[in-house]
Amino acid sequence: MNTMDTVVAQYHRENLTAGILDALKRAGCRENGITIDALAPVDEFHIRGAEATLEMIELAGFQPEHHVMDVGSGIGGPSRQLAQATGCRVTGLDLTEAYCQTARELAAILELQDLTDYRQGDALAMPFENEVFDGAWTQHVTMNIENKEALLMECHRVLKPAGRLAMYEIIAGSGGPIHFPVPWANDATISHLIERDSFEAALGAAGFRVESTRDVSEASARWFADTIVTNQAAAVPTLGLHVLVGSDMKEKGPNVLKNLEEDRIRVIQLVATKV
Ligand SMILES: C[S@@+](CC[C@H](N)C(=O)[O-])C[C@H]1O[C@@H](n2cnc3c(N)ncnc32)[C@H](O)[C@@H]1O
Repeated sequence: MNTMDTVVAQYHRENLTAGILDALKRAGCRENGITIDALAPVDEFHIRGAEATLEMIELAGFQPEHHVMDVGSGIGGPSRQLAQATGCRVTGLDLTEAYCQTARELAAILELQDLTDYRQGDALAMPFENEVFDGAWTQHVTMNIENKEALLMECHRVLKPAGRLAMYEIIAGSGGPIHFPVPWANDATISHLIERDSFEAALGAAGFRVESTRDVSEASARWFADTIVTNQAAAVPTLGLHVLVGSDMKEKGPNVLKNLEEDRIRVIQLVATKV
């Protein structure tokens, strides 16, 4: 299997939309009562869920007239939050077709299909013309991509002059190799974490000026302990990321927490501008 196939195999799920709607129903959500907030525990596939996305919306400052690209958009929770909160248009790009399909179906349920669209494709060879987006963002995507410079150069290419790139990413800490499996990788073959200095240097090399970087690792560890690990330990977990990740979230969740506590991973929120 090549690297891209391994990444898709990591995320692909059969009958994903039906599984999510069924989990919502079991959690007591009526079919006509599905909202962005009801979906958030399962469609925001990153540490600190909707809370982190709302912070990124604030930091990024995208405006209603903007067209934003969401790189590695997953099943679309962040893109829908962004579209709903700001009124801007969002195009998601993701390697995993099953995720794109679910993202479209959930957008239709929430009546956000006019503001969002989802394309299957590789972030290292984006299927977009030069300088078409006002903004771009990523949330928990770069850990699967070894060639950060190529990714950032693609973001640079498709952004308009002075376009803004907002990133919410997992990076390497100073505590050594990480414990596997984790939700983004079962082993080191598709996990490519680099430290903050190298991350910022890659942005500079690709033609971005870093405006701000915030380390949110402590809040991430607290959230993971309180929300994910506690929920997974319950006899019947409530709606959560296990619906997306599968039953091995029981092992992957505690590993993320251990990696955070031992400073093997860190979490940053970063905003950069195309120069
Ligand atoms: C942990 S999920 C995050 C999804 C979403 N950003 C969110 O926060 O809900 C990582 C996503 O990155 C996508 N991905 C990984 N490598 C990619 C690549 N080279 N090009 C496009 N998408 C990629 C995966 O398919 C997966 O949907």
